[in-house]
Amino acid sequence: MDRIRIRGGKPLSGSISVSGAKNAVLALMPSALLAGSALHLQNVPNLADVATMTALLQHLGMDVVHDKAARTLALAGPATGNEAPYDIVRKMRASVLVLGPLVARHGVARVSLPGGCAIGTRPVDLHLKGLEAMGATITVEAGYIEARAPAGGLKGARIIFPVVSVGATENLLMAATLADGETELVNAAREPEIEDLALCLIRMGARIEGIGTDRLRVTGVAALTGATHPVVMDRIEAGTYACAAAITGGEVFLQGARLDHLGAVARVLREAGVGVNEEPAGLRIARMNGLHGVDVVTEPFPGFATDMQAQFMALMCVAQGASMVTETIFENRFMHVPELARMGARINVHGASAIVRGVQKLSGAPVMATDLRASVSLVLAGLAAQGETVVNRVYHLDRGYERLEEKLAAVGADIERLA
Ligand code: UD1
Repeated sequence: MDRIRIRGGKPLSGSISVSGAKNAVLALMPSALLAGSALHLQNVPNLADVATMTALLQHLGMDVVHDKAARTLALAGPATGNEAPYDIVRKMRASVLVLGPLVARHGVARVSLPGGCAIGTRPVDLHLKGLEAMGATITVEAGYIEARAPAGGLKGARIIFPVVSVGATENLLMAATLADGETELVNAAREPEIEDLALCLIRMGARIEGIGTDRLRVTGVAALTGATHPVVMDRIEAGTYACAAAITGGEVFLQGARLDHLGAVARVLREAGVGVNEEPAGLRIARMNGLHGVDVVTEPFPGFATDMQAQFMALMCVAQGASMVTETIFENRFMHVPELARMGARINVHGASAIVRGVQKLSGAPVMATDLRASVSLVLAGLAAQGETVVNRVYHLDRGYERLEEKLAAVGADIERLA
């Protein structure tokens, strides 16, 4: 199994180009199920999760061509199947995003229940309640969700989310595009990936208002067509490399990164003593002087992203003073803490909060983690640590970071993949 070896202590310097967003492409790909002709996506990152979604759509009978050199995906239907099997869904929870489009277009879908994952129980009740409000009949049996649209198809509805959910907003937004009448999604998630999905759906002929707000209004149309759409840049990848520059005391230009998409992450980095400057082609990140501890609380966008929590905690491990990191989105998202502690970090967890007391130096160690962002936080710690760090279970990183070690080596990190 692949591992990544890092010899820490080198300040990063140079330019990193940000890839298309994993979480955007994983919602854009299932939207092709809604279209009567081919959807062409550009700026597609080459990630294991994209391969998994490709396999799922192919399993559903879609014709999917991923040109990795051109960074494009062509997805053409119609789907001939309606079942997302356990073997694919257990690998990637985002598989549940085929549910809304399949019910809306084909009237029926069977999707394996995703179940728990490394970062918590992660229910899908909001996806199901929303479809029910649109007239679908839902049954859950033998580990599978079965959703059936009423005779005349899904009907527009007013859906008020009790908690903000990215996936439920995406699933119901897609379903609503082909429903009969108007749908209003209230307390909808506002992540840039949702805006990107809405823009793509509009290109396909959907009628959506309120983009970028927490109230999306969709007027159903009879059919959607294919379109060409570039995937938005990955704000979490950008934020991760911003932390890499900061933790090594370096200066890096993040080509394609957008300040407005970083949300609270940019503000918090600045408070910690990291320069974040917007230029026409991207963001310049530089550690000014010393780093200092800042408290953060994860929240839906534009708040501090839960997907940046582990990386920011790694940074706080070497800051002056203390920092309190509170996780409000997922209940079990501190798996990186014991591994960071093995590298010399001083962290105490109290319920949903972790108190980090900065140390002068981390020291390299063999480490591993159980999810994508936790794994990359260990890479960041390794970049700053004295000596050698070996990160195991690299397949987590390959799910969401394209050519991680190449991108970091190109800006001066001493990092390599060991087969
Ligand atoms: C997406 C992202 C993930 C990110 C997360 C939060 C993708 C592919 N994944 O995941 O990287 O960490 O947003 O920004 O885009 N919830 C319910 N019932 C539901 C759905 C969600 O209670 O039906 C809860 C969850 O348990 C969690 C919170 O709502 O506590 C937010 O989850 P959600 O936004 O849905 O996360 P995902 O869409 O799964």
